[in-house]
Amino acid sequence: MSAVTRKSIVVAQRIPPNALKTLTSYKGFDVEVWNDDNPMPDDEMSKRLTSASGIFVTLESKIKGDLIKSVGPNLKCVSTMTVGYDHLDVKALRSLGVRIGHTPDVLTDTTAELVVALLMASARRLIESHKCLLSGDVGKWNPNWMCGKDIKGSTIGFVGFGRIAQTVAKLLSSFTVKQFYYATRSFICDETTLASIGTPCERIELEVMLPKCDFVIVLCSSNASTKLMVNRDFLSKMKPDSIIINASRGDVLDQDALIEALTTGIIRAAGLDVTTPEPLPKDHTLLHLPNCTVLPHIGSASVDTREAMAMLAVENLKAALEDRPMPAEVLP
Ligand code: DGY
Repeated sequence: MSAVTRKSIVVAQRIPPNALKTLTSYKGFDVEVWNDDNPMPDDEMSKRLTSASGIFVTLESKIKGDLIKSVGPNLKCVSTMTVGYDHLDVKALRSLGVRIGHTPDVLTDTTAELVVALLMASARRLIESHKCLLSGDVGKWNPNWMCGKDIKGSTIGFVGFGRIAQTVAKLLSSFTVKQFYYATRSFICDETTLASIGTPCERIELEVMLPKCDFVIVLCSSNASTKLMVNRDFLSKMKPDSIIINASRGDVLDQDALIEALTTGIIRAAGLDVTTPEPLPKDHTLLHLPNCTVLPHIGSASVDTREAMAMLAVENLKAALEDRPMPAEVLP
């Protein structure tokens, strides 16, 4: 292949090695790798947006705002190694002829498992108990100490009911949950999927769902209509003994309202895999509330799943640069 027809690909952060090996083994591409666990800074990204044909990013590369002005005529694809794409201005990129790839499905089970773990950790106060051991604040076995909340017999509500939420429901069903509800703007889950959950699951209005639930699990996408949706009003509709779990995006939840709710008994506890910012600074109030379990956005973090996500992102990029259908393209 002549040098003129070679396409340049930029990988904007260090990625799992097998995916990189696969990418560099493909003929016809010049691959530049930003070989750092921190993403390529915006000024560097700006130059690559102008000159490259394809860019491989993670959720840490925010290609929106002023950076869009740098997009050059060669850019054919931005491939993100994430299922969510709120870090990209999809509309602007598409209007410039840039195709966008993402990584649905391959992370569903791993993320669902983490959501179940976070719910259990929050319900049974795992991190709080561990912190007490570390600080020496544990006495003799005490019938009244560290008592949590059962999943068995509980009512669980989902905000957003996509693939991950459906899988969480299936996993939690084995805990003998009494009832699932889901609140969605327009999505209606098909009967076959609902039947496969194994526990009654019904679509319901959010306002009606919140006061019924022992656990509310937020797994919607972040967009203009969901930003700060979990606010004072939302939390005040939940039961005082209930627990909220957020594994969607940090900006869906108003953290000041959550701190108020957790410290004044409006709700019992919270489990967060996503926050604003990420990571939270170590002196942030949420990290020091005993009834708040916070993780640093590790929903999809298993070795196999991160490898699968990176491979899919590579295949998306290659397909777009070869003008073929992408395995997982973000479509309007
Ligand atoms: C995603 O893929 O959108 C997650 O938040 C990171 O796994």
